[in-house]
Amino acid sequence: MADISTDILGMKMKNPVMPAAGPPCLDGDAMVAVSEGGAGAIVAKTVSRQPAKVPRPCMYRIRNSMLNTELWSDLPVEQWIKTEYKKALSTGLPLIASLGYNAEDIGELAPKLEKAGVHALELSTHYLGTDPKPMVDAIKAAKEGTSIPVLPKLSPNILDIMEFARAAVKAGADGIVAINSLGPCLTIDLETGMPVLGGDSGYGWVSGDAIKPVALRCVYDIARAVDVPVIGVGGIRTGRDAAEFIMAGAAGVGVCTAAILEGPSVFGRIARELEVFMTAHDYRSIEDMRGVAIRNAKGRKGKTTPSYPKVDADLCTGCGVCVKHCIYDALTLKDDVAQVDRKKCYGCGLCTSYCAVRAIKIKYW
Ligand SMILES: Cc1cc2nc3c(=O)[nH]c(=O)nc-3n(C[C@H](O)[C@H](O)[C@H](O)COP(=O)(O)O)c2cc1C
Ligand code: SF4
Ligand code: SF4
Repeated sequence: MADISTDILGMKMKNPVMPAAGPPCLDGDAMVAVSEGGAGAIVAKTVSRQPAKVPRPCMYRIRNSMLNTELWSDLPVEQWIKTEYKKALSTGLPLIASLGYNAEDIGELAPKLEKAGVHALELSTHYLGTDPKPMVDAIKAAKEGTSIPVLPKLSPNILDIMEFARAAVKAGADGIVAINSLGPCLTIDLETGMPVLGGDSGYGWVSGDAIKPVALRCVYDIARAVDVPVIGVGGIRTGRDAAEFIMAGAAGVGVCTAAILEGPSVFGRIARELEVFMTAHDYRSIEDMRGVAIRNAKGRKGKTTPSYPKVDADLCTGCGVCVKHCIYDALTLKDDVAQVDRKKCYGCGLCTSYCAVRAIKIKYW
């Protein structure tokens, strides 16, 4: 079997799957449940100098995604220091505390959290805007008062995330977490004709499946821009999702929405699926697989001439799903095996994303 244990900034983990800051780690008991669910590390809910006043309702599921208008923890930071972190530390897992928001808040809180025994600090930059300066000041404030690793968490709203990542590392960041939820967004209750979520605007921030491609691109860009560990977050729900983030350069992965929707056993399930995937694909370790997509795509030139899909007749079940979905009408079934009409095929690749048994493949590189 592949070895999925890892070490991120001196934090030893049995696997690289951890919660992302949010309701799965809203207090000490929840963090113990996350550990029992099989996570390799714990990331606590964000704290700030004042408890948050969270609008209600604050969560709404949309398929495997959700909108939320939660803020940071509504528990006082003193309670976190006195009780909640201690419970998390009792699990023996590495504990990353999340805190926000500006340099003043962070300068005051960071040394207190270090003293409480947490192993690293994640800085939420969610409300700091798209200019790197407030984030840089926040990192410097955290670094000045502490000696544990500091990892800013970047928002997908940042236009040039590579520039942000470079600025973060220059300011002393030891690693980077990406991404937070994406927004603002809106969902409307068709019965009341009102925005569903409870803030004044009714806005929410989207997470889960819907943001995975955004998150993956951000992680890929950050990992190409800087040489520090990146924790990839955004739409991770399966071991294959986790593998994609690691191939894009992530050293570890964070899961929030899937943990809300499925419960804490999600961490162990994703870790087991990752191990199975890596073993089947001959990756011996996380380090072996980390950044493989960056290396493979280096210097790659885009293509404009079509390749045509090939069907593995032994794997094809004749289900007809690809036939139904080929917008160019280039697929038919013959003797329960999909057939490609090259005169009609555009080489678009869509059919390969439909086949559940991966019987139809297209080779461009
Ligand atoms: C209900 C909810 C609450 C969240 N609270 C926080 C938080 O307190 N601090 C933070 O940095 N991110 C918070 N997030 C963002 C998640 O940590 C994560 O970055 C984002 O949801 C994308 O990951 P996912 O698709 O696995 O949920 C929250 C997300 C949700 C859905
Ligand atoms: S979707 Fe896959 S299994 Fe189904 S007919 Fe097409 S190639 Fe065969
Ligand atoms: S590559 Fe596109 S056009 Fe060709 S068979 Fe598949 S879905 Fe149809």
